[in-house]
Amino acid sequence: MLHIAAFGQGIHFCLGAPLARLEARVALSDLLSRLRGLELASREPWEPRKALNVLGPARLPICFEPGRRSAAAG
Ligand code: HEM
Repeated sequence: MLHIAAFGQGIHFCLGAPLARLEARVALSDLLSRLRGLELASREPWEPRKALNVLGPARLPICFEPGRRSAAAG
């Protein structure tokens, strides 16, 4: 049911969902391969965003050990 919350449903289902999923897959796998020891910085419960159309936490503090910069980052 997660995809329904994220991309809507029915005739207005998000037209960009496949692109958004691909972008997330590429970005998250790159991020996870470069950030060592990625974890939540707080054990406090999440505060929900104050938005009607986008679900998620208002903020998500994390900590990590920075890895090597990629060539693309300069
Ligand atoms: C994580 C990224 C994205 C999320 C969470 C998201 C979410 C949504 C949601 C919830 C709707 C339904 C809105 C409603 O029911 O009124 C929607 C519709 C739409 N989205 Fe996305 N979207 C994302 C990325 C994209 C991208 C990358 C594109 C285009 C390249 C896109 C294009 C559209 C379009 C054109 C609609 C309108 C569809 C319609 O009304 O028939 N979205 N999106």
